[in-house]
Amino acid sequence: MLSHEHQELLTRVGPGTPMARMLREYWLPAARSASLVADGKPQRVRLFGENYVVFRAAGGDIGFLDEACPHRGASLALARNEGNGLVCIYHGWKFDTAGRVLEAPCEGANPRQKEFMNSIVAGHYPVREAGGMVWVYLGARREPPEFPLFEFNQVGEGHIKVRRALLDYNWLQGLEAHLDAAHLAVLHASTIGRFAGALDSDSGLALKNLAPEMEMEMTRYGMREAAIRPMPDGTRYARMRHLILPFFTMVPSAPNSPCSGRAIVPIDDEHTAEWYFIYRHDRPISETEIKAQWLGAADNDDNFAANLGNAENMWHQDRAALKGGHWSGLTRCIPFEDFTVSSSMGIRMDRTKEKLGPSDMVLVHARKALLDALEAFQADGTISWQGGVDFASLRAATATLAPGDDWRLKV
Ligand code: FES
Ligand SMILES: [Fe+2]
Repeated sequence: MLSHEHQELLTRVGPGTPMARMLREYWLPAARSASLVADGKPQRVRLFGENYVVFRAAGGDIGFLDEACPHRGASLALARNEGNGLVCIYHGWKFDTAGRVLEAPCEGANPRQKEFMNSIVAGHYPVREAGGMVWVYLGARREPPEFPLFEFNQVGEGHIKVRRALLDYNWLQGLEAHLDAAHLAVLHASTIGRFAGALDSDSGLALKNLAPEMEMEMTRYGMREAAIRPMPDGTRYARMRHLILPFFTMVPSAPNSPCSGRAIVPIDDEHTAEWYFIYRHDRPISETEIKAQWLGAADNDDNFAANLGNAENMWHQDRAALKGGHWSGLTRCIPFEDFTVSSSMGIRMDRTKEKLGPSDMVLVHARKALLDALEAFQADGTISWQGGVDFASLRAATATLAPGDDWRLKV
């Protein structure tokens, strides 16, 4: 259970809030690389309750600007993308990827007006492209932090598949669904069971024990944890995850399956972008692997949850399937089961009323870590979870532990 004050601190992510100011200090996934075409349509991006526009200029450079034109506030998402910049359709001001004004046809050409034009710069932000995503730094520091070179940010094209889901709930609900390991063998029992013996046979082992022993430890990047289940032959089966605060999780997959991760990014208090990616080194991701991950999801890489449903249609829960043996009756993919329960809590769930049990230990520690990081940030600008982290080494895993084996040495 959280105090009202802590609930507000953790969930309010609008302009000027402590959480937004802190989260803006991290590199954030903002758009899919493939969705930005040179000279193509600019894309509107909303983060922390503020609106931006991202576009790819003819030469391939990416610009990330405030959405409102600095002249009179028309949306630059409506702009023409011409050559090396965006041209506002209202009065024709043209901005390059660094926000400089290149043209202002209505302002004439005398030297004083030229000076005026040179004094104006549209709000613009540093970007990086990696792992099939366009990342942005929206923070207050002069120099962005070191870019997190996760393993998935370094694989070749075709070796990673990235898809985004847009959800109508607060970011912490999204994050906590991924921190909550205890639900795996309950909520997902049937969707995981479907793959038992096929793509994800390892996960079938997790279904055999609904109350694993949870172990965790805090790390420089957040925390890592293991769900450990004793097996009949005396070994223990461990599923081990990294929670890379403030918003990444790496999720274990079976041997020979793609590695998998998520990033949970706040759009505003009531909307969240959940980035899902699967990747592998040895060969490109196959269509079969993509289908297995997103069975029944919308055919839209920028919002694969477009067909999730809502309370009106009970998220398309199939009661006949439920009666017939499917646990949740949510018969599409695993992410849809997570999105549905998170969405069913309401737009911003009230954590002052929940009753947490021992299996919620990871949630409790993650919330405390976020609150401690906020306190340090507000006290002296400290940014947690960045220094000295080897991001490339953070890969989730499963392992069979012999008696005496330590899971910490397996992940
Ligand atoms: S509002 Fe954009 S050029 Fe005038
Ligand atoms: Fe889940």
